[in-house]
Parts: sequence; C-alpha cells; structure tokens
Amino acid sequence: MSSERIEALITKMTIEEKLGQMTQLSPFFWGVEDGVDITGPLEALSIDNSVVSRLGSTLNYFGADKLKKLQDDYLEKSRLKIPMLFMADVIYGYKTVFPIPLALSCSFNPQNYHDATQIVAKESAASGIHLTFAPMSDLVRDPRWGRVMESPGEDPYLNAMMTEAAVRGFQGDSLNDKGTIAACVKHFAGYGASQGGRDYNWVELSKHSLWQYYLPSYKAAVDAGVKMVMTAFNVIDGIPTSANKSLFRDILRDKWGFKGVTISDYGAIDETVINGLVKDGYGAAKACIEAGIDIEMMSTHYVQYGKKLVEEGRLSIDLINQATRNILMLKEELGLFDNPYRYADAKEEQKLHKCKEHLKRAREIARESIVLLKNNQILPLEENGSIGMAGPFVAVDSTMGGWVLGDDKNSFTLEEAIREKGFDVITSVTKGLGAMQDGCFDIEDWVEEEIKKLEHCDVIIVGVGENAQDTGEGASKTNIRLSYNQEKLIYRLKQLNKPLIAIIFSGRPLEIKPIVPVCDAIIEAWFLGTESSGALADVITGVYNPSGRLAMSFPQTVGQIPVHYNCYNTGRPYSGKDERYISRYLDCSNEPLYPFGYGLSYGETEYTEFKVETVKNKMIASVIVINKSNVEIKETVQLYIRDVYATVVRPIKELKGFRQIVLKGYEKQRVEFEITKEMLKFYRYDYEYVFEEGEFDIMIGKNSADTQMVRKYIS
Ligand code: BGC
Repeated sequence: MSSERIEALITKMTIEEKLGQMTQLSPFFWGVEDGVDITGPLEALSIDNSVVSRLGSTLNYFGADKLKKLQDDYLEKSRLKIPMLFMADVIYGYKTVFPIPLALSCSFNPQNYHDATQIVAKESAASGIHLTFAPMSDLVRDPRWGRVMESPGEDPYLNAMMTEAAVRGFQGDSLNDKGTIAACVKHFAGYGASQGGRDYNWVELSKHSLWQYYLPSYKAAVDAGVKMVMTAFNVIDGIPTSANKSLFRDILRDKWGFKGVTISDYGAIDETVINGLVKDGYGAAKACIEAGIDIEMMSTHYVQYGKKLVEEGRLSIDLINQATRNILMLKEELGLFDNPYRYADAKEEQKLHKCKEHLKRAREIARESIVLLKNNQILPLEENGSIGMAGPFVAVDSTMGGWVLGDDKNSFTLEEAIREKGFDVITSVTKGLGAMQDGCFDIEDWVEEEIKKLEHCDVIIVGVGENAQDTGEGASKTNIRLSYNQEKLIYRLKQLNKPLIAIIFSGRPLEIKPIVPVCDAIIEAWFLGTESSGALADVITGVYNPSGRLAMSFPQTVGQIPVHYNCYNTGRPYSGKDERYISRYLDCSNEPLYPFGYGLSYGETEYTEFKVETVKNKMIASVIVINKSNVEIKETVQLYIRDVYATVVRPIKELKGFRQIVLKGYEKQRVEFEITKEMLKFYRYDYEYVFEEGEFDIMIGKNSADTQMVRKYIS
C-alpha cells in the first residue's frame, strides 16, 4: 500500500534521509530538555546535528505551542519538508488520569478502557501528540514484575478484549476524526513472561504457550487496526525480539497481515549487542532491519551503519525503502503532510485538560475498577460518625502508578474525600511510614501517642500499599508483602478493637495474606488516577456498590508464583487430602488467596437453573441470577470452558465470555451465552487453529473458582 505522494518522496530521498526517518531520539537532541523521560542509558550516540535534522520522530515531549514550534523549526531545515511524528507514553492518562490498565481490566468493562483511552487521546492530541505507545497488552502471570500494572492481566480473552477497546479508544473510527491519536501495541512479544518477574529478563515460552496465550492480545490489536507495534526487551527462543524475524516478518506481517509501522523499544536495538546476538552496531542494524523493525528508538545504529551495509551489499535497499514507506504512510494517514501540527491547539488544551466531563468519567471508571476483597458487614459506612484514618496513603495527593507523564495530582486526598462525605475524620500516622522500598520505619513511642488519637473513633480506615514509583518499568520485587511497618501498624490498630478497613494501593497483586485475618474489610484500590479519592469515598459510603473483579490472581505467598487460574491439570492433581506424591506444596495449598474473576459487592447473588441446551441449532448456556439483597448490584457473570481431552492438553478452565448485568434489589435476570465452535478452538500440535469434537465442561459462575458445571459432548 502506498500513495503517489509517498512514492515520489521515496524516489527523491537520499539513503541518509531514509535512515533518519527510521530513527527516533528524545527531544533532548533538539535542544529541549523538559518533558524528557529517560528510561534507559543515554550512551554517547555518536551523531552530529546534520543527522538530528533528518530524524523522523521524537518522544515524550508535550504542549501544543512547544510542539508546533519544534515542528516549525524542524520543517524549516528539512529538505523535503517531511513533518516530524510526535509520539508519547500517554498510556492511561495525560492530564486526566484514569486507573492503571490492570485496574481498568478489573472493571471487566471494555467500554471503560475505550472511554479512558478516548479521553487520553483527546487531551494529548490537543497537546500535539500524534501517537501513543499504548496499549500494553503483555499477558502477565507474575506479580513480582513491576509492569503488570500496565497490562490487562492474566487472561488471554479479557486481555484481547481490553486491548481492542483501547486501540479503538485511541484511534477512533478514523484518524481523520478530531482528538484521535494512533496507537502502538507493545511489547511484541512475550515480555510479560520475563523469567522470575525480573524486568528485561529473557523469556522461556513454549511455542504452544506463545501462540495459545501470549499472542492473541497483540493479534486483537492488529485486527482492530493498530498502527504501530513495538518490540520488547526480552530474548525469546534465543533471539532478542528486536531482531526476531519470525515474530515481526513471519507472524506479524505475513500471517496477520499487519501493514503499519514497527518500532524498537527504548535502546533495544543497541541491546542486541549486549545480549550477545551480534558483535556491534553494524550487526545490530543489519539484524534488526532484516527482522523488520522500521524505527530504531533511542540508539543510532541505523543512521550510522545503514548506508555502509547497503553499499557493501550486506543489506537490501528494498528493506530500507519499505521501512521508510511504512513510516511515511503513517504520516500521511495522520494527515501530517497537510497539517503538520494535527490537533495541537493551546485553546483546546485549556478547554479539554481535566475538564468537568473528563473528570466525571474518570470518577465513574475509577469506581468500577475497585475490587472489594473482604467485607465482614462493615462496609458501606453510614454517613455519620467518626472515622480514624491512618497509613501512608491517607493524606497523599498523588496515587497514579508508574506511567504518568502529564499531571500526577489527585483531585483530593482520601482524607479530604471522606470528610467531604460528612464524617468526622481524625488522622494519625499518615507520614513517616515507609512504603515498600524504604519500609524500615519503626513504630516508635511518638507513633504510640499518635495511635491513641484514634481510640474513640467508630471505625478505622488504614491506607497502605506500595509507592507508585515501586511499580511499572524497572520495578521488579522479590518481596511483595506490605512493608514490615505497614503490617505492624495494621496489627497495632487492630488492638484498638474497632472495625478496621484496609485500602490497598498497589500496581500488582501484593501478598496480603498476613493482614487478611485482622482486617474486617479489604478494598483493592490499585492506582485509580486523578479521581481516586472520590471514587473510593463513593465505594466506602455505598454511593457506588463495588463491582470490580480481579484480572489477576492474588497469591497466598510469593513462593506460589506463577499462580493463575487457567493452568493445566497435572497427572496427580491435589484433591485436598494429605497425600505425599501429589502435585502440591507441603506448606501451602495450591489455590491463590483470591482467584481471577473474584470480587465482592454489598449484596448477595445466587445462580440457579444453570443449563446448557440446544435452541434453534445453537448451543446456549444460561443461568438465572438472583439478587438476594435490597441493593442494586452490578454482577459480572462469567463463562468458563474446559476441553476435557484433546490432542494437546487444555487448561482446566478458560474464560470464554462474560456479561455485566445490573440487578435492582431482589431482581432476577436470565443470562445466556451462545457456545460456538470458534470459542472452542485451540492451537494443535501442528499449530493449526482447530476445533476438535469431544467432551467439554461448560461452567458459569461468579469467579474462576466458584462455578457450576455441565459436561456436554460437542461435535
Ligand atoms: C518502555 C516502553 C516505552 C518506551 C518509551 C521503554 O523503556 O519499555 O514501554 O514506551 O520506553 O518511553
């Protein structure tokens, strides 16, 4: 695919100009310093200003006027007047910040991810951004990895749905529509399986796991028309992804028909040398261009060695022309040749950034992302009485998670939001308690005095968790418990003999088992963005009845990891009996603390009359869901299926559908799912995607561990 304009340009371009299009550096090289987010080493890049003037894109520089000026300065010097492309990590928020993607996924509502990304697109497009490095759709099973916060979680189906929604949210129906930006799915492929949860580590995935579980979400982005695909930092099958021809040419382009642009992750082309795949930058440029990576981000081997490689007959010029064509086509599709500023507009920035409508939607979405993990009839709180509030997250004004490059301030602190609801609030020990990294603060005498202030409160809320900076890139941990002092604070507060509610702020499932018995209620808040506090206050007071469901299992202990629901049966499954030669741990049961799909509300539902029947040639699974309480409930009814035996073994359960219904007090509703052969397909030993007839367990339930089952032969 190309246009006459692009072909004419390619004919006129020198090889240096083409390689310039294929290179991305931070705005630092154009003499601007603010807004630069450096996530890797800035090695001496050995380039001069003439190279900089030819580069085709930059990243993480914001502001309508600033980007217009940069574009003007750049175009003035550009021989062929090819506009620059402005990319940025606006992932779940720019000025209005939404919950982290893992939390968005817990809303089990793709529309939320869509609306959040649509608003992110509008706000950042007004600030001059053309493309976002999102959505991140790496499947994750290891909460030690800090980047689980950016992912939609452990399930391939949910992950694919959320990814697709985000691509559509960012890109809209057409990139010609105002307020849209192009999307870039990342990190292709398998980055979420970094060994031991250590960031940038290599990945060991069988071909089967890769195809069956890890690739579908990226494929969903491609099918939804995503414009760009980013490599990952990991080595897979012995090849760094940025030099992985099989991923980028065979699968992405040939098999999936991807027509857009590919980009390396930050410095990842240079890292192929460090990985030991190639000897030097010359080898890196050759390997990565041949693998099909169009843009080199934050290293300069393409511009340094591309021409030499061609002149020496080591690299085909056709590959450089094709990469250039891909990039210029994207610029054309974004309309940059006709309007190089695109939607950059200072007035629009003022109008849109954190506007009332965006904040309102952010609060609604944040409420739906909260997961109630435990409730001994304490929540919701009546709107009077006195509340004691303690812990490091009660009075802070920034609970955003690791990837916010715009505005990182909450509208309110949690303390303010609770006061706003009409409670008397007494705070204590809100400062000085280290979170995860520096959690060595001791509960000293002055803290004892502080805690006494809460003796006469009716209820105590403790806000605990991990620092936002302890999540995201480069934030792997081996210990995912609350800090010693946070746990100690919780035990000490319990001694006041008041109902104790813990609110957990985290970018990953933490190991919270030690505090579960002492807390009367536990709310998983993740990082909810700008409207975090208001959303939490709505849930605490019952203005919103919690409806979030876990998109990632909570381990009982770090030693169980990976613990995810969609696992295989062993030949010796554990049945709960105390047997030795059985697949179990001696010191811990196999189940997670809280399973995938789990989450409570303030009401009670019952599932009855579950059946699977054939109606007009369609196989329909249905269940009646009854609200047994007087409060309105948003229920997520989940469909799981197991292929009982097949030519390759299949997981004991796989999510195949879900429906969110709203039930008024005591209302009941019938929920139906059509079982199609398409949803029963899998990758066979020969990598054909097939349906095999046989027995299937069809399960409907409230979460992955609480299901009812019917076995059916399907042919
Ligand atoms: C991250 C990417 C990000 C890029 C640009 C890298 O370090 O892995 O996810 O898009 O930096 O900021």
